[in-house]
Amino acid sequence: MKNRLITLSVNGRNYRLNVEVNRTLLQALRDDLKLVDVKYGCGSGECGGCSVLVEGRECINSCLTLAVEMEGRNITTIGGMMRKGELHPIQQAFIDEGAIQCGFCTPGMVMKTASILAKNPCPSEDEIRRGLEGNICRCTGYENIVRAVQTASRVMHESDIQAAGGAGP
Ligand code: FES
Ligand code: FES
Repeated sequence: MKNRLITLSVNGRNYRLNVEVNRTLLQALRDDLKLVDVKYGCGSGECGGCSVLVEGRECINSCLTLAVEMEGRNITTIGGMMRKGELHPIQQAFIDEGAIQCGFCTPGMVMKTASILAKNPCPSEDEIRRGLEGNICRCTGYENIVRAVQTASRVMHESDIQAAGGAGP
């Protein structure tokens, strides 16, 4: 199998990788870069466990994406979500709302949530449920996950207002 040299950024760090052209991004992240916070669930695009963010916005299944397609792109995994040693508001909301049981789906759910909120900061419940389609949780029944997305949306929105100098007159 042919190899190709690619450069990509993962969680703000630049990497050069010599990968087989049929190697998936999931294999490159977990096996080559040892970033095992990206989960290997079904390996066939069914569970969303392997979700990562591209350019801080698009959520993709890394098991269905070739590593060579990510040449020059910026990837974020859950390992890149913390800021200055603090959990990202989405991570905190998942904890606060009890949206984690076994935790296997959580990295993918958090990345999917980041994508939903990047595109629509204040989604309705229906928009959240539709946005989460494709990410499977076998434990929680989804109610707490939906609440976590709503909480993250509110907290992030409030902090945006504060950063902008406060709302109202
Ligand atoms: S491991 Fe990629 S969607 Fe399940
Ligand atoms: S918390 Fe167990 S799969 Fe979601």
